[in-house]
Amino acid sequence: MMAEALRGKHIVVGVCGGIAAYKTASLVRLLIKAGAEVQVIMTPSAREFITPLTLSTLSGNPVITEFFTANTGEWHSHVKLGLWADAMVVAPATAATIAKMATGVADNMLVTSYLSCRAQVFVAPAMDLDMMAHPSTSRNLETLRRDGCIIIEPAAGELASHLIGRGRMEEPENIFGCLAQFFEKSSALAGKHVLITAGPTYERIDPVRFIGNFSTGKMGYAIANEAARRGASVTLVSGPVGNITTIDGVTVVPVESACQMLDAAQQAFPTADVAILAAAVADYRPAKQFDHKIKRETNGIEQIELVKNPDIAATLGAQKSENQRLVGFALETDHPIEHASDKLARKNLDMIVLNSLSDPGAGFGFDTNKITILFADGRQPASFPLKSKAEVAADILDNIESLIVCNQ
Ligand code: C5P
Repeated sequence: MMAEALRGKHIVVGVCGGIAAYKTASLVRLLIKAGAEVQVIMTPSAREFITPLTLSTLSGNPVITEFFTANTGEWHSHVKLGLWADAMVVAPATAATIAKMATGVADNMLVTSYLSCRAQVFVAPAMDLDMMAHPSTSRNLETLRRDGCIIIEPAAGELASHLIGRGRMEEPENIFGCLAQFFEKSSALAGKHVLITAGPTYERIDPVRFIGNFSTGKMGYAIANEAARRGASVTLVSGPVGNITTIDGVTVVPVESACQMLDAAQQAFPTADVAILAAAVADYRPAKQFDHKIKRETNGIEQIELVKNPDIAATLGAQKSENQRLVGFALETDHPIEHASDKLARKNLDMIVLNSLSDPGAGFGFDTNKITILFADGRQPASFPLKSKAEVAADILDNIESLIVCNQ
């Protein structure tokens, strides 16, 4: 069952120069046996620990180390590899490569491919106990975690140095298990249509000015990518955001204002199994939109009359059918639980994600978030620690999956 999840998946295996590299041969073997396609990339020093011939024979693909093959001049495209990958796993990950990944030092094929990789990246560190315990290693691993990598923690035991402590690469069977579990997760959302709203809305005053907010869209985009990774087809109705990449399976519908967002959401909603409303919709818009730029000297306006915007969540809540799930967000400064529960009921939501504003690192513009989830079905609220937005997206979707499974 577990192995089935890996069938046909494209896995990039990155190997660094550490004694644990010999164990990566077993990992490659397990992946191939499970039906995955494997492309191995080695750092130059990894070749001192295990021969490329071993790994190319096991994977059935030539191993890549250099940016191009010296005798033929054939160029190895890290961009193509990054797009080809359904997942990348760096095992063993040495302190040097972890530091390069954390700071973007793309001086070899492995780190360059990592920077081009849109898929989930797993990192299985292996090093001596003092290197593992060094604050610099902890800092770099924390950076990778925040950048969305899943760290497969090393085990404690006897190390190559004969010292005993933490730093031994996790066993190949367990690394394989992490990958299988990751792809297994696609089940409850696989084949489902998920509608997501994200980003701010801009409400035009005149052709050059608007009323808006500081939402970056990062949380909504992280949920969209994670839902697609789990096999959903995603319609992402997005307000104006910077350049955020989406993966295959996500169709972005760009909009500007709340009214446009409502139109696009209503168009997608009838076929949606799940709608997740992560957009920070402006509550009001100017009653009148000027065709020409308002001039200080001639127009002399001092007040802008506002009218209320439609509540997209409440509108979809009123239209929701029995087999559709609706999820909203709440950002509250006072009495957060009471206000979020009130919204949950009033907008006819199944689940509401309460963002913390009071915790450092959570909320607008950060790459991390801290959430509490409230449910309409009487379940106890679930609180989570501060995590990367990619990990928070996974927590939110795990809970949505449980709603789908419980209501099937
Ligand atoms: O009422 P409040 O804005 O706090 O509710 C937040 C939730 O409602 C979020 O899920 C947000 O995306 C959604 N919402 C909406 N349309 C609005 C206002 C909020 O969909 N006009």
